[in-house]
Amino acid sequence: MARSSFFQASTLLSSFLALANAQSSYPSATPTTSAQPVFTIPASADEGADVLPNILDPQAVNAQDVCPGYKASQFKEDERGVTAILSLAGAPCNVYGNDIESLNLKVEYQSKDRLAVNIRPTYLDASNSSHWIVPEHLIPRPQQEDSNEDLDLQFTWGNEPSFWFTVTRKSSGDVIFTTKGTHLVYEDQFVEFVNSLPEDYNLYGLGERIHGLKLNNNFTATIYAADVGDPIDRNIYGSHPFYLETRYFEAGSGKYKKPLKESDLNQRNFNFGSKRSGKGSPYESASHGVYYRNTHGMDVKLSPTNLTWRTLGGEIDLFFFDGPTQHEVTKQYQKSAVGLPAMQSYWTLGFHQCRWGYRSWAETKEIVETMRAFDIPMETIWLDIDYMDKYRDFTLDPVHFSPSDAVDFFKWLHGNNQHFVPIVDAAIYIPNPQNPSDAYAPYTRGNESGVFMTNPDGSQYIGAVWPGYTVFPDWMSTNGVSWWVKEMVEWFKEVPYSGFWVDMTEVSSFCVGSCGTGNVTLNPAHPPFQLPGEVGNIIYDYPEAFNVTNATEAASASAAASSQNAAKSTATSSSTSTVYLRTTPTPGVRNVNHPPYVIDHVQGDLAVHAVSPNATHANGMQEYEVHNIWGHQIINATYQGLLSIFPGKRPFIIGRSTFAGSGKWAGHWGGDNASKWYYMYFSIPQALSFSLFGIPMFGVDTCGFNGNTDAELCSRWMQLSAFFPFYRNHNVLSAIPQEPFRWASVAEASRTATHIRYSLLPYMYTLFHQAHTTGSTVMRALAWEFPNDPQLAAVDTQFLLGPNILVTPVLEPLVDTVKGVFPGIIDGETWFDWYTGERVNAEAGVNTTISAPLGHIPVYIRGGAVLPLQEPGYTTTESRRNPWGLVVALSREGEASGELYVDDGESLEPGEVLDVSFKACDGVLKVDVKGEYKDTNALGNVTVHGVYGGVGDVRLNGKEVGKEKVVYEQAKGVLRISGLNGLTEGGAWKEGWSLSWT
Ligand code: GLC
Repeated sequence: MARSSFFQASTLLSSFLALANAQSSYPSATPTTSAQPVFTIPASADEGADVLPNILDPQAVNAQDVCPGYKASQFKEDERGVTAILSLAGAPCNVYGNDIESLNLKVEYQSKDRLAVNIRPTYLDASNSSHWIVPEHLIPRPQQEDSNEDLDLQFTWGNEPSFWFTVTRKSSGDVIFTTKGTHLVYEDQFVEFVNSLPEDYNLYGLGERIHGLKLNNNFTATIYAADVGDPIDRNIYGSHPFYLETRYFEAGSGKYKKPLKESDLNQRNFNFGSKRSGKGSPYESASHGVYYRNTHGMDVKLSPTNLTWRTLGGEIDLFFFDGPTQHEVTKQYQKSAVGLPAMQSYWTLGFHQCRWGYRSWAETKEIVETMRAFDIPMETIWLDIDYMDKYRDFTLDPVHFSPSDAVDFFKWLHGNNQHFVPIVDAAIYIPNPQNPSDAYAPYTRGNESGVFMTNPDGSQYIGAVWPGYTVFPDWMSTNGVSWWVKEMVEWFKEVPYSGFWVDMTEVSSFCVGSCGTGNVTLNPAHPPFQLPGEVGNIIYDYPEAFNVTNATEAASASAAASSQNAAKSTATSSSTSTVYLRTTPTPGVRNVNHPPYVIDHVQGDLAVHAVSPNATHANGMQEYEVHNIWGHQIINATYQGLLSIFPGKRPFIIGRSTFAGSGKWAGHWGGDNASKWYYMYFSIPQALSFSLFGIPMFGVDTCGFNGNTDAELCSRWMQLSAFFPFYRNHNVLSAIPQEPFRWASVAEASRTATHIRYSLLPYMYTLFHQAHTTGSTVMRALAWEFPNDPQLAAVDTQFLLGPNILVTPVLEPLVDTVKGVFPGIIDGETWFDWYTGERVNAEAGVNTTISAPLGHIPVYIRGGAVLPLQEPGYTTTESRRNPWGLVVALSREGEASGELYVDDGESLEPGEVLDVSFKACDGVLKVDVKGEYKDTNALGNVTVHGVYGGVGDVRLNGKEVGKEKVVYEQAKGVLRISGLNGLTEGGAWKEGWSLSWT
């Protein structure tokens, strides 16, 4: 029965236009299937104690004023490092915990580019203590290597006024980290140290947060995994205690140079234009990295000339990466410390369409068909929690997503070489014990295997998420991972997914503490807030310029919003002055739920909207210590699940909460942004930060998640995200539909941009392979590719894809131009317009105005690059069967080079591969091929940019290709050679070849 209705409902051609025009059909919250009244968890269940972050608390004591610091003794040094004992230098201050009397200092010169400083309680090494440090099996610790090469970083220390240490770059004398003049504070719930930095420092990283790329020097970067809809400057889903610092100097001015301040640059009339014909940039830079291997909640207070690090426990475990270029820092960080990023399967680089609110297989199929009817490439369709039976993991809604219809759906989808990725949530529904029909097998099996987290008294910890009261897998339990893997394997038999989208993994819970204890008979309960689209909760919010571009609709939306808000505000109560909860240390006891030091957590109380700190793992470990890695561990478990399902194939995972090193298993999306222009802008610094964190597979909810989008924003955003590694459109429940076909202009813009993206897939895939093997980045900041230009230090409105593609997107409404720089011109760099192939005539250091009407995204190719391309098909499978192409963009010297990596696109350890290298000079392109992978696609065409002096015969391996195949636009300097297919039968990379045009 269900089967025939599925196919009737999805007859495409009669309905796709109606669907495309259905701007007014707002999907609403999934209706409750049962007629029984549903218990709603009270909103108060998610309210925590009123706590005041220490950085905002006028009564807060500054530990630096009251704590004695430590004195070092028993100092020992050899060629591998330093050890010493640090003893408390005075009476304990017990400021936000209980002081630890004696510490072990261990400094390791770990390799030629890495120095480690570890400070931990002495008793930890001596006995079995309760002080928790990160186990190496959870978060590997970079190891000492046998290296004969000299480390350029040097450790020095002193005892006045109390123990301090400094890390210096020997070759330049630059002090990259020093705690001199400050006190080390080391307590059971509070560890503080302070390091000085040069004025106007350039610091990047310390995520996860929404912030410009360069961090300012007057805010606090809090690190504590939080389920929260992308507030600016606050802690959000992931934890990346890592920073990159770049210092600019005057070029060539010898040892002990001072890093340049902003005022130095201004005084020197910082203008590259005037130096254009000179010897290049008058500046140079050096970068280094710092990784703090600690999983506790922390505040990193950024002040004008120092950083104050405050964690809620653990050990000081610092790693300094020597660089001295940004490229080297990220390579060192990923390769030796946290792990190289996962190689992505080829298909994952295609376009992904998603939304919360696809309500049936039929509707889902219709979306897929409509995308094709509009000729907008779509590789993967995603489903949100709508597909589940009452929001329970590993189920299907029996009515709208029936298992029998699933069979047809997947046969059809996979038959078209398309993929499916479902959301899977972290929390597991706990069935109502009084209702036998509420039984839920994944819970039962997990419960029998003892895989769920507990309360300190050993009872099950019961929180709440979408399905009602829930429990939470304990990845430290003996059977946790194997239970999850088995559930994945079982469910795959019904739902043949291609990857997993793991959500709510901070781990989120919609109430404080074990709120479900004693309440499970109320299940399935409704979450303690209205879902978007539920009665009285309509979305009237639009992008910034909507009132200009859609004035009438904007006016009625604004009137409706005011009446909705008025109705809501009558229900709010008046507030009284707040009495904050402040706790003080108790000897020998830790207060994990309300630590004496209050970090600036976006949710206030650590237990709000998350599993509480006192929730307990197997072996007694408390969530307090490991909260920040819950999301990392579910990614690991999921990775293992996918490996069991697809042995030998690369798992595809997009995770919400990540930790340092998650990139070796997963990608990440930017979470719950909104359909606002500023979120489109922030997507760039978000992505660049994740490049630093070793998670190159990054993208955001394109066109915006919360709120309604509009055509202009969605058009610009679909074009921008086409150059991000992970390209997905996703939307909140009940917002207006925003698939790219909903507006003709967006459809057209998306087609243009996806066409470029799919042409560039071989280049992107090669970049991923380089990232995976060396730790290089895929999306790059301009400052990283052009380290001699201090003006680029904060640029995050433009970016590079690899070294060779410059993207300068429009990030504001109602304009048809955009300003951007063309980096490197002072050092002789050239840029070519992607569309016309013409060389850009730009001056060094000048913000150039670029024409960018709606539907056009400015993209440039760097002179000196050979870009491997492939003719785009509708899917990546089709693309991979198409002829190859090359763009050769000659440098001023008439040279270019590039690489191409090819394999089967999916194997973890591909048997055969191809490494193709390209080199052009003096009018000849030489192609060298290594490897045995068989690719039989011919070469379609070669375009050469920057050929100004005329061309001679065009010859392939010395044989003339024929005049009809050659078009030379001398004025533009563009040489197009097409129709080479016949000459390269059997495969463009069957063997090496050369092409000459002089
Ligand atoms: C969370 C996710 C979002 C998803 C929603 C419903 O808010 O971040 O992407 O759509 O949950 O599952």
